[in-house]
Amino acid sequence: MTDLSTSYLGLELRNPLVPSSSPLTGHLDSCRRLEDAGAAALVLPSLFEEAILEDERISARFLHEQETGFGEADSFLPVPEDYPSALDEYLSHLQAAKAALDIPVIASLNGISTEGWVSYGQQLQQAGADALELNVYYVAADPEESSVEVEQRYLDILAQLREQVQLPVTMKLSPQFSSPAHFARRLQAAGARGVSLFNRFYQPDIDLETREVIPTLSLSTPYESLLRIHWLAILHGRVQLSLAATGGFHETADVLKALMAGADVVHLCSLLLRNGPEALTPLLEDLKRWLEEHEYQSVQQLKGSVSQQHAIDPAAWERTNYVKLLGSHRSPDSVWR
Ligand SMILES: Cc1cc2nc3c(=O)[nH]c(=O)nc-3n(C[C@H](O)[C@H](O)[C@H](O)COP(=O)(O)O)c2cc1C
Repeated sequence: MTDLSTSYLGLELRNPLVPSSSPLTGHLDSCRRLEDAGAAALVLPSLFEEAILEDERISARFLHEQETGFGEADSFLPVPEDYPSALDEYLSHLQAAKAALDIPVIASLNGISTEGWVSYGQQLQQAGADALELNVYYVAADPEESSVEVEQRYLDILAQLREQVQLPVTMKLSPQFSSPAHFARRLQAAGARGVSLFNRFYQPDIDLETREVIPTLSLSTPYESLLRIHWLAILHGRVQLSLAATGGFHETADVLKALMAGADVVHLCSLLLRNGPEALTPLLEDLKRWLEEHEYQSVQQLKGSVSQQHAIDPAAWERTNYVKLLGSHRSPDSVWR
Protein backbone atom coordinates (compact mmCIF):
# COMPACT_ATOMS: atom_id res chain seq x y z
CA MET A 1 0.00 0.00 0.00
CA THR A 2 1.63 3.26 -1.12
CA ASP A 3 1.68 6.00 1.49
CA LEU A 4 0.56 9.22 -0.17
CA SER A 5 0.74 11.36 2.94
CA THR A 6 2.81 14.51 3.13
CA SER A 7 3.60 17.12 5.72
CA TYR A 8 2.89 20.76 4.83
CA LEU A 9 3.21 23.78 7.15
CA GLY A 10 3.24 21.34 10.05
CA LEU A 11 -0.07 19.81 8.92
CA GLU A 12 -0.27 16.10 8.19
CA LEU A 13 -2.07 15.71 4.86
CA ARG A 14 -3.44 12.51 3.32
CA ASN A 15 -1.91 13.33 -0.07
CA PRO A 16 -0.12 16.23 -1.80
CA LEU A 17 -3.03 17.63 -3.87
CA VAL A 18 -4.36 20.92 -2.51
CA PRO A 19 -6.79 23.19 -4.40
CA SER A 20 -5.39 26.72 -4.30
CA SER A 21 -7.10 30.01 -3.64
CA SER A 22 -9.88 30.67 -6.17
CA PRO A 23 -13.65 31.24 -6.35
CA LEU A 24 -14.06 27.44 -6.29
CA THR A 25 -13.11 27.29 -2.61
CA GLY A 26 -15.38 30.24 -1.87
CA HIS A 27 -18.51 28.07 -2.02
CA LEU A 28 -19.29 25.48 0.62
CA ASP A 29 -20.76 23.10 -1.90
CA SER A 30 -17.61 23.02 -4.05
CA CYS A 31 -15.44 22.75 -0.91
CA ARG A 32 -17.36 19.58 0.01
CA ARG A 33 -17.01 18.26 -3.54
CA LEU A 34 -13.27 18.92 -3.45
CA GLU A 35 -12.93 17.02 -0.18
CA ASP A 36 -14.97 14.12 -1.60
CA ALA A 37 -12.82 14.13 -4.74
CA GLY A 38 -9.74 13.57 -2.57
CA ALA A 39 -8.33 17.06 -1.86
CA ALA A 40 -5.99 16.89 1.14
CA ALA A 41 -6.57 20.50 2.25
CA LEU A 42 -7.73 23.65 0.55
CA VAL A 43 -6.89 27.33 0.39
CA LEU A 44 -9.81 29.75 0.56
CA PRO A 45 -10.09 32.70 -1.84
CA SER A 46 -8.17 35.72 -0.60
CA LEU A 47 -9.45 38.33 1.76
CA PHE A 48 -8.13 41.44 0.03
CA GLU A 49 -6.55 44.48 1.63
CA GLU A 50 -8.76 46.66 -0.58
CA ALA A 51 -11.92 45.04 0.82
CA ILE A 52 -10.69 45.38 4.41
CA LEU A 53 -9.86 49.07 3.95
CA GLU A 54 -13.25 49.67 2.32
CA ASP A 55 -14.94 48.02 5.33
CA GLU A 56 -12.98 50.27 7.65
CA ARG A 57 -13.95 53.36 5.63
CA ILE A 58 -17.65 52.46 5.72
CA SER A 59 -17.67 51.69 9.42
CA ALA A 60 -15.80 54.95 10.15
CA ARG A 61 -18.52 56.82 8.24
CA PHE A 62 -21.20 54.97 10.17
CA LEU A 63 -19.63 55.99 13.49
CA HIS A 64 -19.25 59.56 12.28
CA GLU A 65 -22.94 59.66 11.31
CA GLN A 66 -23.92 58.44 14.77
CA GLU A 67 -21.79 61.09 16.46
CA THR A 68 -23.03 63.93 14.27
CA GLY A 69 -26.68 62.86 14.58
CA PHE A 70 -27.37 62.05 10.92
CA GLY A 71 -27.15 65.44 9.24
CA GLU A 72 -29.46 65.94 6.28
CA ALA A 73 -26.63 65.40 3.77
CA ASP A 74 -25.74 62.04 5.26
CA SER A 75 -29.21 60.71 4.59
CA PHE A 76 -28.53 60.75 0.85
CA LEU A 77 -26.07 57.90 1.30
CA PRO A 78 -27.09 56.10 4.49
CA VAL A 79 -25.00 53.20 5.71
CA PRO A 80 -27.27 50.20 6.30
CA GLU A 81 -26.88 48.90 9.85
CA ASP A 82 -26.77 45.30 8.66
CA TYR A 83 -24.12 46.04 6.02
CA PRO A 84 -22.32 42.68 5.58
CA SER A 85 -18.62 43.49 5.68
CA ALA A 86 -16.17 41.54 3.53
CA LEU A 87 -14.49 40.41 6.73
CA ASP A 88 -17.76 39.14 8.24
CA GLU A 89 -18.58 37.22 5.07
CA TYR A 90 -15.08 35.77 4.96
CA LEU A 91 -15.19 34.70 8.61
CA SER A 92 -18.57 33.07 8.23
CA HIS A 93 -17.42 31.11 5.15
CA LEU A 94 -14.26 30.04 6.98
CA GLN A 95 -16.25 28.88 10.01
CA ALA A 96 -18.75 27.04 7.80
CA ALA A 97 -15.92 25.33 5.88
CA LYS A 98 -14.23 24.31 9.12
CA ALA A 99 -17.50 22.86 10.43
CA ALA A 100 -18.32 21.02 7.20
CA LEU A 101 -14.90 19.59 6.28
CA ASP A 102 -12.44 17.21 7.89
CA ILE A 103 -9.48 18.43 5.84
CA PRO A 104 -7.41 21.47 6.90
CA VAL A 105 -8.61 24.87 5.69
CA ILE A 106 -5.98 27.49 4.86
CA ALA A 107 -7.13 31.12 4.81
CA SER A 108 -5.54 33.65 2.47
CA LEU A 109 -4.69 37.32 2.93
CA ASN A 110 -3.82 39.39 -0.11
CA GLY A 111 -2.43 42.92 -0.19
CA ILE A 112 0.64 45.07 -0.60
CA SER A 113 0.75 47.83 1.99
CA THR A 114 2.01 47.97 5.54
CA GLU A 115 -1.12 49.85 6.67
CA GLY A 116 -1.93 47.27 9.32
CA TRP A 117 -4.62 45.36 7.41
CA VAL A 118 -2.87 42.07 8.19
CA SER A 119 -3.97 42.48 11.82
CA TYR A 120 -7.19 40.81 10.61
CA GLY A 121 -5.15 37.61 10.45
CA GLN A 122 -5.92 37.32 14.17
CA GLN A 123 -9.62 36.94 13.42
CA LEU A 124 -8.91 34.30 10.77
CA GLN A 125 -6.96 32.42 13.41
CA GLN A 126 -9.84 32.71 15.91
CA ALA A 127 -12.30 31.52 13.26
CA GLY A 128 -10.35 28.26 13.01
CA ALA A 129 -7.99 28.58 10.02
CA ASP A 130 -5.35 25.86 10.11
CA ALA A 131 -2.73 28.06 8.42
CA LEU A 132 -2.50 31.35 6.54
CA GLU A 133 -1.26 32.04 3.05
CA LEU A 134 -0.03 35.60 2.51
CA ASN A 135 -0.07 36.79 -1.08
CA VAL A 136 1.71 40.08 -1.69
CA TYR A 137 0.72 40.48 -5.32
CA TYR A 138 2.95 43.46 -5.99
CA VAL A 139 3.92 44.79 -9.40
CA ALA A 140 7.25 46.57 -8.85
CA ALA A 141 6.71 49.33 -11.41
CA ASP A 142 8.31 52.29 -9.64
CA PRO A 143 11.80 52.98 -11.06
CA GLU A 144 12.72 54.71 -7.77
CA GLU A 145 12.08 51.55 -5.76
CA SER A 146 15.03 49.18 -5.48
CA SER A 147 14.87 45.41 -5.30
CA VAL A 148 15.94 45.67 -1.64
CA GLU A 149 12.91 47.85 -0.92
CA VAL A 150 10.59 45.50 -2.79
CA GLU A 151 11.84 42.57 -0.70
CA GLN A 152 11.58 44.64 2.47
CA ARG A 153 7.90 45.26 1.74
CA TYR A 154 7.26 41.49 1.82
CA LEU A 155 9.31 41.10 4.99
CA ASP A 156 7.54 43.99 6.75
CA ILE A 157 4.07 42.66 5.92
CA LEU A 158 5.12 39.18 7.05
CA ALA A 159 6.53 40.60 10.32
CA GLN A 160 3.27 42.45 11.00
CA LEU A 161 1.26 39.30 10.44
CA ARG A 162 3.58 37.19 12.58
CA GLU A 163 2.99 39.63 15.46
CA GLN A 164 -0.73 38.86 15.25
CA VAL A 165 -0.88 35.10 14.77
CA GLN A 166 0.72 31.90 15.97
CA LEU A 167 -0.54 30.00 12.91
CA PRO A 168 1.94 28.81 10.30
CA VAL A 169 2.25 31.42 7.55
CA THR A 170 3.25 30.65 3.99
CA MET A 171 4.14 33.30 1.42
CA LYS A 172 2.85 33.08 -2.13
CA LEU A 173 5.70 34.55 -4.15
CA SER A 174 6.13 36.18 -7.50
CA PRO A 175 8.76 34.66 -9.81
CA GLN A 176 10.33 38.09 -10.23
CA PHE A 177 12.98 38.32 -7.54
CA SER A 178 16.61 38.76 -8.45
CA SER A 179 17.74 36.13 -5.95
CA PRO A 180 14.79 33.91 -5.04
CA ALA A 181 16.83 31.41 -3.00
CA HIS A 182 18.40 34.13 -0.84
CA PHE A 183 15.04 35.83 -0.42
CA ALA A 184 13.43 32.54 0.64
CA ARG A 185 16.06 32.26 3.40
CA ARG A 186 15.25 35.80 4.54
CA LEU A 187 11.56 34.93 4.68
CA GLN A 188 12.41 31.87 6.73
CA ALA A 189 14.46 34.01 9.14
CA ALA A 190 11.47 36.40 9.42
CA GLY A 191 9.22 33.54 10.52
CA ALA A 192 7.64 32.20 7.34
CA ARG A 193 6.84 28.50 7.53
CA GLY A 194 6.58 27.96 3.78
CA VAL A 195 6.65 29.44 0.32
CA SER A 196 4.34 28.86 -2.59
CA LEU A 197 5.94 29.10 -6.06
CA PHE A 198 4.72 31.10 -7.97
CA ASN A 199 1.98 33.67 -8.33
CA ARG A 200 0.85 34.04 -11.92
CA PHE A 201 0.99 37.69 -12.85
CA TYR A 202 -1.98 38.46 -15.05
CA GLN A 203 -0.79 40.23 -18.18
CA PRO A 204 -2.92 43.13 -19.44
CA ASP A 205 -3.44 43.16 -23.21
CA ILE A 206 -3.83 46.07 -25.66
CA ASP A 207 -6.85 46.53 -27.91
CA LEU A 208 -5.29 47.59 -31.23
CA GLU A 209 -8.37 49.50 -32.37
CA THR A 210 -9.30 51.41 -29.21
CA ARG A 211 -5.77 51.40 -27.71
CA GLU A 212 -7.31 50.54 -24.41
CA VAL A 213 -5.51 48.36 -21.93
CA ILE A 214 -7.60 45.26 -21.42
CA PRO A 215 -7.28 43.25 -18.24
CA THR A 216 -7.07 39.59 -19.24
CA LEU A 217 -7.48 36.54 -17.09
CA SER A 218 -6.48 33.37 -18.85
CA LEU A 219 -6.25 30.00 -17.20
CA SER A 220 -2.81 28.40 -17.08
CA THR A 221 -1.22 25.89 -19.44
CA PRO A 222 0.95 22.93 -18.38
CA TYR A 223 4.08 24.61 -19.80
CA GLU A 224 4.01 27.07 -16.88
CA SER A 225 4.73 24.27 -14.42
CA LEU A 226 8.36 24.04 -15.59
CA LEU A 227 9.34 27.38 -14.05
CA ARG A 228 7.91 26.20 -10.72
CA ILE A 229 9.63 22.82 -10.93
CA HIS A 230 12.96 24.52 -11.66
CA TRP A 231 12.87 26.71 -8.54
CA LEU A 232 11.51 23.98 -6.30
CA ALA A 233 14.52 21.90 -7.29
CA ILE A 234 16.88 24.73 -6.40
CA LEU A 235 15.23 25.50 -3.04
CA HIS A 236 14.73 21.94 -1.83
CA GLY A 237 17.18 21.09 0.95
CA ARG A 238 18.49 24.65 1.10
CA VAL A 239 15.66 26.11 3.20
CA GLN A 240 13.69 24.77 6.14
CA LEU A 241 10.42 25.82 4.55
CA SER A 242 7.45 23.87 3.32
CA LEU A 243 7.38 24.09 -0.47
CA ALA A 244 4.20 24.37 -2.53
CA ALA A 245 3.96 24.38 -6.31
CA THR A 246 1.31 26.54 -7.95
CA GLY A 247 0.86 27.37 -11.62
CA GLY A 248 0.35 25.03 -14.54
CA PHE A 249 -0.35 21.74 -12.76
CA HIS A 250 -2.91 19.90 -14.87
CA GLU A 251 -1.37 16.47 -15.43
CA THR A 252 -0.09 13.69 -13.21
CA ALA A 253 3.33 13.74 -14.88
CA ASP A 254 3.81 17.38 -13.84
CA VAL A 255 2.66 16.69 -10.30
CA LEU A 256 5.21 13.88 -10.09
CA LYS A 257 7.96 16.18 -11.38
CA ALA A 258 7.09 18.84 -8.80
CA LEU A 259 7.33 16.24 -6.03
CA MET A 260 10.63 14.92 -7.39
CA ALA A 261 11.91 18.51 -7.47
CA GLY A 262 10.98 18.92 -3.81
CA ALA A 263 7.38 20.13 -3.45
CA ASP A 264 5.49 19.11 -0.32
CA VAL A 265 2.18 19.88 -1.99
CA VAL A 266 0.97 20.72 -5.46
CA HIS A 267 -1.78 23.30 -5.82
CA LEU A 268 -4.50 22.94 -8.42
CA CYS A 269 -6.66 25.76 -9.73
CA SER A 270 -7.13 26.17 -13.51
CA LEU A 271 -7.70 22.44 -13.96
CA LEU A 272 -10.48 22.47 -11.36
CA LEU A 273 -12.04 25.72 -12.54
CA ARG A 274 -12.17 24.34 -16.06
CA ASN A 275 -13.30 20.77 -15.32
CA GLY A 276 -14.85 20.91 -11.86
CA PRO A 277 -13.78 19.58 -8.44
CA GLU A 278 -14.04 15.94 -9.58
CA ALA A 279 -11.07 16.44 -11.95
CA LEU A 280 -8.87 15.97 -8.89
CA THR A 281 -9.76 12.28 -8.51
CA PRO A 282 -8.15 10.86 -11.69
CA LEU A 283 -5.01 12.85 -10.93
CA LEU A 284 -4.83 11.29 -7.49
CA GLU A 285 -5.53 7.79 -8.82
CA ASP A 286 -2.86 8.16 -11.53
CA LEU A 287 -0.38 9.42 -8.96
CA LYS A 288 -1.00 6.35 -6.83
CA ARG A 289 -0.81 4.02 -9.82
CA TRP A 290 2.48 5.52 -11.02
CA LEU A 291 4.07 5.21 -7.58
CA GLU A 292 2.97 1.58 -7.29
CA GLU A 293 4.18 0.70 -10.78
CA HIS A 294 7.55 2.29 -10.05
CA GLU A 295 7.76 0.58 -6.66
CA TYR A 296 7.77 3.69 -4.50
CA GLN A 297 6.59 3.04 -0.94
CA SER A 298 5.59 6.62 -0.33
CA VAL A 299 5.38 10.19 -1.60
CA GLN A 300 8.03 10.97 0.99
CA GLN A 301 10.46 8.69 -0.85
CA LEU A 302 9.85 10.59 -4.08
CA LYS A 303 10.11 14.07 -2.60
CA GLY A 304 13.23 15.94 -3.65
CA SER A 305 14.78 12.90 -5.33
CA VAL A 306 15.67 15.00 -8.39
CA SER A 307 16.24 18.31 -6.59
CA GLN A 308 19.48 20.07 -7.35
CA GLN A 309 21.12 18.49 -4.30
CA HIS A 310 20.15 14.98 -5.41
CA ALA A 311 20.12 15.17 -9.20
CA ILE A 312 22.59 13.01 -11.11
CA ASP A 313 23.76 16.19 -12.86
CA PRO A 314 23.14 19.15 -10.47
CA ALA A 315 24.54 21.62 -13.02
CA ALA A 316 21.65 20.75 -15.31
CA TRP A 317 19.52 23.01 -13.09
CA GLU A 318 21.86 25.95 -13.78
CA ARG A 319 23.67 27.82 -16.54
CA THR A 320 25.66 24.86 -17.83
CA ASN A 321 22.45 23.38 -19.04
CA TYR A 322 21.52 26.62 -20.79
CA VAL A 323 24.79 26.79 -22.70
CA LYS A 324 24.53 23.15 -23.78
CA LEU A 325 20.90 23.60 -24.71
CA LEU A 326 21.40 26.63 -26.97
CA GLY A 327 24.27 24.87 -28.69
CA SER A 328 22.14 21.80 -29.32
CA HIS A 329 19.52 23.52 -31.49
CA ARG A 330 19.35 22.26 -35.09
CA SER A 331 16.89 23.75 -37.58
CA PRO A 332 15.66 21.40 -40.28
CA ASP A 333 17.90 21.22 -43.38
CA SER A 334 17.30 23.93 -45.96
CA VAL A 335 15.61 26.38 -43.50
CA TRP A 336 18.79 28.42 -43.18
CA ARG A 337 22.61 28.01 -43.64
C1 LIG B 1 -10.32 33.04 -11.25
C2 LIG B 1 -9.11 32.95 -10.35
C3 LIG B 1 -9.17 33.50 -9.07
C4 LIG B 1 -8.05 33.45 -8.23
N1 LIG B 1 -8.13 34.00 -6.98
C5 LIG B 1 -7.03 33.99 -6.19
C6 LIG B 1 -7.08 34.59 -4.90
O1 LIG B 1 -8.10 35.10 -4.43
N2 LIG B 1 -5.93 34.58 -4.16
C7 LIG B 1 -4.77 34.01 -4.60
O2 LIG B 1 -3.77 34.01 -3.89
N3 LIG B 1 -4.72 33.42 -5.82
C8 LIG B 1 -5.80 33.41 -6.62
N4 LIG B 1 -5.73 32.82 -7.85
C9 LIG B 1 -4.48 32.18 -8.28
C10 LIG B 1 -4.54 30.66 -8.08
O3 LIG B 1 -4.67 30.31 -6.71
C11 LIG B 1 -3.29 29.95 -8.63
O4 LIG B 1 -2.16 30.29 -7.86
C12 LIG B 1 -3.00 30.27 -10.09
O5 LIG B 1 -4.19 30.25 -10.86
C13 LIG B 1 -2.02 29.28 -10.67
O6 LIG B 1 -2.46 27.96 -10.58
P1 LIG B 1 -3.13 27.17 -11.84
O7 LIG B 1 -2.16 27.18 -12.93
O8 LIG B 1 -3.43 25.82 -11.29
O9 LIG B 1 -4.37 27.95 -12.20
C14 LIG B 1 -6.84 32.85 -8.69
C15 LIG B 1 -6.81 32.29 -9.97
C16 LIG B 1 -7.92 32.33 -10.81
C17 LIG B 1 -7.83 31.72 -12.17
